[in-house]
Amino acid sequence: MPEVNIGKASSFQDPGRRVVEIGSVQIGVFQLDGKFYAYENRCPHLGGPACQGKILPRVLEAVAEDKKSAGRVFSRDQLNIICPWHGFEFDIRTGKHVAISKYRLRPVPIRTGGGDVYVTLPRKGESGP
Ligand code: FES
Repeated sequence: MPEVNIGKASSFQDPGRRVVEIGSVQIGVFQLDGKFYAYENRCPHLGGPACQGKILPRVLEAVAEDKKSAGRVFSRDQLNIICPWHGFEFDIRTGKHVAISKYRLRPVPIRTGGGDVYVTLPRKGESGP
């Protein structure tokens, strides 16, 4: 599987996202707290461009001492990518759907070296949900 240099690590925002296209493969590259994550830009639901959706903190239900709902709050440590087609949400750090475990973005190996960022392309026939 070919490894491709996609640029200087310092050129990526943190937190941030960049979608790169290499040949016929689109890859969403994310940086959070100095760590890189990469996924094929294809939603496991119906193939939408999941990596190009909004990035938002996970919404949680706050529970008061009386066990009643205290409303919704944003997570302080989980950021999700939201597929623009039907709103499926995936944890950027794992690629997993936040509620339905059978849905997961396909991870792409990514590493840094010498100040650059490299992704390893999937073999032909390996991409897609
Ligand atoms: S294609 Fe992504 S939520 Fe349907």
